Amino acid sequence: MEIKAYHPKYEKGWLQCRVLAFLSTAYYDNVLQEKENYKHPSIELVAIHQSKVVGLIDVEYETEKNQVCTGERGLGGMIWHLAVHPDYQRLQIGQHLLHRVENLAIEKGLTYLEAWTRDDNWVVDWYKKNDFRPVYAYLHVFMEGKSEMQHVKSEIKALRPVQTWAHYNGENEESIRQTFERVHTCTGLEKRLDDAKRL
Ligand SMILES: CC(C)(COP(=O)(O)OP(=O)(O)OC[C@H]1O[C@@H](n2cnc3c(N)ncnc32)[C@H](O)[C@@H]1OP(=O)(O)O)[C@@H](O)C(=O)NCCC(=O)NCCS
Repeated sequence: MEIKAYHPKYEKGWLQCRVLAFLSTAYYDNVLQEKENYKHPSIELVAIHQSKVVGLIDVEYETEKNQVCTGERGLGGMIWHLAVHPDYQRLQIGQHLLHRVENLAIEKGLTYLEAWTRDDNWVVDWYKKNDFRPVYAYLHVFMEGKSEMQHVKSEIKALRPVQTWAHYNGENEESIRQTFERVHTCTGLEKRLDDAKRL
């Protein structure tokens, strides 16, 4: 397995690796048909095994505070995508990708990395094992069907929403969970790089 800088020739493999990795997570229906481009600079790496993309990580980073991340702790890098192909998980490919990103991030003067994840305790645990700490949590609420959609109104005449999802960061988590069937906890995690040694 070799870690390389992303190149557009890897796009198809990148998309396939991401969709397969996410199938067993709460992001199972977050499917991309094209890889994103970022407004700010980015670190984009892939793990290649026998010419196949088996892992990927994308970090968009700041050159001025708060351009990309939510924290106010110096310059941050946001992990927008991190995935390891299901046939290659638990072989430390994720950890190698993260370490490579951290070294590059430190070289670029970043002071922290930020990541967001939905439910999936094993993924949150993976971040914790890699020295991230949870800093914030709120809900992702999906709505569909007559009884759930009665809470969603359109202001445009003749436009009737049939399915939607929303962020909830209010006090009544319990009542939201009782009202809607598909509710995820979205957890924000952060890793400080200031004191990190190069790995
Ligand atoms: C999270 C992820 C990137 C970790 O990459 P990885 O190369 O599989 O993980 P590593 O080998 O570095 O670390 C292994 C640890 O990750 C966790 N882990 C990885 N795959 C797992 C799985 N399928 N089930 C349960 N735990 C798993 C375990 O804690 C494991 O430690 P263990 O084998 O000692 O129990 C990868 O599993 C993945 O792509 N997950 C789905 C996509 C995702 O959730 N991405 C992050 C979105 S924000």
